[in-house]
Amino acid sequence: MSTLLEQIADLYAAEPVACGGMLADAAVELRCLSGTLAQVETPRLLPVANLLPAALATARSGPLAAIADAFVDHAATAHWRQNPNYTVDTIGAAFLDSYGYVELVGRGRPCASENLAVGFLLLGPGAHYPPHHHPAAEVYHVVSGVAQWGRGDEPPTAKPMGAAIYHPPNIRHETRALDQPLLALYCWRGDIGTAAQLA
Ligand SMILES: [Fe+2]
Repeated sequence: MSTLLEQIADLYAAEPVACGGMLADAAVELRCLSGTLAQVETPRLLPVANLLPAALATARSGPLAAIADAFVDHAATAHWRQNPNYTVDTIGAAFLDSYGYVELVGRGRPCASENLAVGFLLLGPGAHYPPHHHPAAEVYHVVSGVAQWGRGDEPPTAKPMGAAIYHPPNIRHETRALDQPLLALYCWRGDIGTAAQLA
């Protein structure tokens, strides 16, 4: 886990100005956390985790291949999660079968933090993560796959592997995976205790 966190810290430190300036602070905190002893979580797999080999194969042709490799090693025994606000009634069974995330850093996570959350989101091909919002500021890095990313009133645009996408606090945003799984690294800063809600 430490190696993975160190790789993420290096990525964030290389972009200190982009994305509202939050990544430089996150890099400093990650370097402190990466030396802490990780708690062990009970492994919990979700259906979407079956897409990891395909996501990794695609990521190997992109700029974040090393992070993808390190994450997939961890993900096989990770505790996969879904936002408790997303249920069959609110978002539909098809989405829940194509969505999940692993959180490395955050409240009660393997590396504990009160105001920084870092993890990986995985969406299946064609999955539409509908418009939602949350009070934490957020940066995604596209690790694998191409998706359409929409923010506020801006038209959704496709972002390549390696791209960073910034969502200021409370802005409405959405993501639609195209023909491949989407694996994206996320960073939340600020109010990480309030889960995203559908818009
Ligand atoms: Fe978000």
